[in-house]
Amino acid sequence: MGGGCYIRPRFYNENVSANHLDVGVATGYYPAHCRFPATPVRLGLMDLNEHCLRHAAQRTARYKPLILRRNVLEPISFDGSRFDSVALLYLLHCLPGAMKRKASIFDHLRPLMNDGAVLLGATIVQGSAPRNRAARRLMALYNARGIFSNTEDTAEALEASLAARFELWHVEVQGCVALFRAVSRTACR
Ligand SMILES: C[S@@+](CC[C@H](N)C(=O)[O-])C[C@H]1O[C@@H](n2cnc3c(N)ncnc32)[C@H](O)[C@@H]1O
Repeated sequence: MGGGCYIRPRFYNENVSANHLDVGVATGYYPAHCRFPATPVRLGLMDLNEHCLRHAAQRTARYKPLILRRNVLEPISFDGSRFDSVALLYLLHCLPGAMKRKASIFDHLRPLMNDGAVLLGATIVQGSAPRNRAARRLMALYNARGIFSNTEDTAEALEASLAARFELWHVEVQGCVALFRAVSRTACR
């Protein structure tokens, strides 16, 4: 898909806390390989797919992760203590619907975040994001096959969704990837 589609661990390392929730874990690559800033580490793993959760839990077994099988498109039931960072890597572009609908996941996750907690994420966008011909073709194929659902996703729509919900937010486009970071605020709850 051209350069820049996979983020470097640095972005994750710079924003992860030792009280962290990874959402849409897939293989658990990032929580397994990141550098947590302190110990002990409290790690939550959230995904809809039980197989992904099992795999990620094995990879991060040293942290004795908390396993949460949840659909982030619905309100999330959780009565544990809140997290100081939440990661959403390469999840948004897989979710169905327009950014307005996808952004409901920010509302569902915010009650799990402490005041000042950081939301970090990456998602593949279209719109004005630079994509070469191969990237355009591959994205069209992935959308046709239901692997991606991002035909309407733009960095601008993502930024507007974050701005409506968070005190601080930042979106940076690198190639066709929008990296984002936002900080939660009490007044929104
Ligand atoms: C592309 S993978 C994410 C990859 C991973 N975060 C990484 O960067 O290596 C998308 C993940 O989101 C999960 N997922 C998709 N829809 C979901 C939903 N509605 N609720 C929770 N998890 C979901 C999938 O099961 C899959 O593990």
